[in-house]
Amino acid sequence: MDLKAPRGTRDVLPEETARRQALERAFADVCDRYGYGEIRVPTFEHTELFVRGVGDASDIVRKEMYTFEDKGGRSLTLRPEGTAGVARAFIEQGMASRPAPVKLWYNMNMFRYEKMQKGRYREFWQFGCEVFGSEAPEADAEVIGLLDSYFLELGLSRIRLELNSIGCPRCREAFRQALKDYYKPHFASLCSDCQVRYELNPLRLLDCKEDHCHQLAEEAPVQLDFLCPACLEHFDKVKGYLDKLGVAYTINPRLVRGLDYYTRTVFEFVSPHVGTQGSICGGGRYDGLIAELGGDDMPAVGFAMGVERLLIELEAQGIPAGQLKEPDLYIASFPSTAADALALAQQLIREGFAVETDIMGRSIRAQMKAADRRGARFILVLGDRELAEAKGRLRRLSDGSESEVPLTAVSSRLKQEGEVLDHE
Ligand code: HAM
Repeated sequence: MDLKAPRGTRDVLPEETARRQALERAFADVCDRYGYGEIRVPTFEHTELFVRGVGDASDIVRKEMYTFEDKGGRSLTLRPEGTAGVARAFIEQGMASRPAPVKLWYNMNMFRYEKMQKGRYREFWQFGCEVFGSEAPEADAEVIGLLDSYFLELGLSRIRLELNSIGCPRCREAFRQALKDYYKPHFASLCSDCQVRYELNPLRLLDCKEDHCHQLAEEAPVQLDFLCPACLEHFDKVKGYLDKLGVAYTINPRLVRGLDYYTRTVFEFVSPHVGTQGSICGGGRYDGLIAELGGDDMPAVGFAMGVERLLIELEAQGIPAGQLKEPDLYIASFPSTAADALALAQQLIREGFAVETDIMGRSIRAQMKAADRRGARFILVLGDRELAEAKGRLRRLSDGSESEVPLTAVSSRLKQEGEVLDHE
């Protein structure tokens, strides 16, 4: 029996959880200030949702889904991404009747059967935003601006924004034909996947990672040259707004994204630190998805960011994010005072302090060491005498200074000390 975690999954231990929580809090906070509300959707959906939403020609649907049959014979799939589920919920919950735009964010785990690599896992987390109901380029600019604000708050720099427009279905048709014309003489030399893509969705040919196909894609026609006037104008406006917001970008005419629902604006934030794919975050506009899933025509735009890749990037840039909470106070005790130490700790914790006490039956010396290792700010040794006199000595670990304090006043003393510390 193999008792290891399944390949591609990770255990997140408390130190990393603390870093993640700091990122989560900051993301929730920035979304809050931009007026986005959090949505949570099921971990699994009907397989058909992703086939229709993400697209049957995409790598995700063709190769990467965790699909299973439940006991009722339904085909279900662990969500490989969040947009399809959120769009399904938008339709099913009648959110189209809410005042537009409907602005949502999420923090959810995703599942893709991919080859393990640095920054590429089979279960991973995404922070995402989806905006429904606005076709205006202002919406594209807002979601990109939100990301830029988030990176700025985290102190991240040097993440490049790549931007492209892949047009609407109308201008896509001409482009599709141009691609087929270009690839036709090379058909026999394409990898077997690309031969399927050629038939199913030629746009995906531009996405292939195989050396030969990748080289061919470098010379292929680009969608930007085939944009209709309306798409061109939309793209120009998006760029203009980003300039106004001070968000730097690079136009990458070969950026197509790996999911089929995109229209017009597509973008990725990339960095060399996060493995071969380099993308920390990807998104774009998907004006046809809601109708594709059975809703009314409803323009939409959004993005998702890989949390593990964000952590890698922060580390690469030497930015510490979030640490385990250090105790304000460690109460050391003896067997005869252990119960009182537990009670005092609980009382102080309920008042809002971080307090630890010994739950190992250790010697005072070992408890002192533990307090030091945990980075406690103060120590209080609770012996029989301290209990009898109802007062003890509060020792500050940073400089060894001590002061006497009635046991009933520990809380107010910690509060005072905390205020002094905040002031310094
Ligand atoms: P995506 O580009 O497939 O887009 O994924 C977005 C981000 O998720 C990537 O940039 C990457 O950071 C992270 N990611 C993807 N696969 C993995 C993996 N196997 N391991 C670790 N991280 C990974 C979407 O998912 C779209 N739903 C984004 C979107 C939202 N577009 C519009 N709205």
